[in-house]
Amino acid sequence: MLSKVTYKQLPTHNGSRTKPCHRKTKGVCVIFLVIFVLGVGLHRAGFTHSFLGTRKCASYSLSTTGGLPTHYTLPSGDKIPSVALGLWKAGKNQVGNAVQAAVESGYQHLDGAWIYGNEAEVGAALKRTNIPREDIWLTSKLWNSFHDPEDVESALDASLSRLGTDYLDLYLIHWPLALNRDGSVYNQALTDDPYPTWKKLEELVDKGKIRNIGVSNFNIRRIQNLTANPLKYPPAVNQVEINFWFPQAELLAWSKEYGLLLEAYSPLGGDGRVGETLSVPVVKEIAAELGITPAQVINSWHVQRGTVVLPKSVTPCRVEENLHITKLPDELFEKLETAAISHEPKRGVNPSKSWGIDFDIFD
Ligand SMILES: NC(=O)c1ccc[n+]([C@@H]2O[C@H](COP(=O)([O-])OP(=O)(O)OC[C@H]3O[C@@H](n4cnc5c(N)ncnc54)[C@H](OP(=O)(O)O)[C@@H]3O)[C@@H](O)[C@H]2O)c1
Repeated sequence: MLSKVTYKQLPTHNGSRTKPCHRKTKGVCVIFLVIFVLGVGLHRAGFTHSFLGTRKCASYSLSTTGGLPTHYTLPSGDKIPSVALGLWKAGKNQVGNAVQAAVESGYQHLDGAWIYGNEAEVGAALKRTNIPREDIWLTSKLWNSFHDPEDVESALDASLSRLGTDYLDLYLIHWPLALNRDGSVYNQALTDDPYPTWKKLEELVDKGKIRNIGVSNFNIRRIQNLTANPLKYPPAVNQVEINFWFPQAELLAWSKEYGLLLEAYSPLGGDGRVGETLSVPVVKEIAAELGITPAQVINSWHVQRGTVVLPKSVTPCRVEENLHITKLPDELFEKLETAAISHEPKRGVNPSKSWGIDFDIFD
């Protein structure tokens, strides 16, 4: 049995209904209807977003992953696509459309998690697209309260059934924190030594339910702690926060040396900092020089650094924009890299306090 964990769901639309027209007000209703239909049409085409300036979709001419890797090869031999659609905070009645827009634009990689609470909608959208299962890379993550080896398989099964599949391409330990089943006090033994959890994951690889396993939010010490065990399958990836404000150059260099692929989460800076990221002068200068958008500069920079990039958007035109990346000329890449590593690094995501644990999860 899976224990219940609470998570914050994004505010969703209320699904309000239009009242039927009465005779007297019919004319007014028709006018409103015309405005409404026009509005929906313009909205779908992205016009209202750009007109209102809230969800702007910039114009660009990029339509390839010019010169940058489209995939990385994992130790299993599987090829993981270098750009994924992130699914955190992709709320109800939005995430399905975003997944559909992504698949239709050519995305082959979705980054989800059980805790995001949207796997059923993602699965339903995938079913609608009719995309063959083998053409899409599905990642999910084991939540903190299911680290006990006895809980791992049922947690995985819950994700598989919601997504409507019988295997995942990648399953990650979401955080290096094992909570007790009721989600309250943390389990110190399993937090200090995740090997029992890992062995269970290895077993599920052998059972064919997962193709690759990895970790998320692990620092070097925690990776070394895990890999000091006799692992059958070493972690295939480590998914961590990487963005302009928190470029993680040291972890990246260490991971490359160790042969561990990093996945960059909150690549645009996350919800709260995306505007700031896209307004950094050097980012804007490079965008103007290359005729691409600031988001494309940032996404390209990530893949050029050798990481998978996981931009999240529920805005169809942005979803498409984020897929198109290109190799930055060396001097522009270096300029951006220098700017990113020259300021005080500032993390955007650290839930330690909200979990009420008495240590920093990143220490
Ligand atoms: N493993 C972990 O613990 C962990 C933690 C955090 C995130 N992640 C993964 O990483 C993914 C991305 O991280 P994130 O969601 O924190 O941050 P992000 O992708 O850096 O930023 C998302 C924000 O950027 C906006 N945006 C996206 N593309 C844009 C564009 N082209 N132009 C302007 N604005 C744009 C989105 O708005 P709209 O949606 O409104 O378009 C949203 O507000 C998550 O979805 C999740 O898959 C994993």
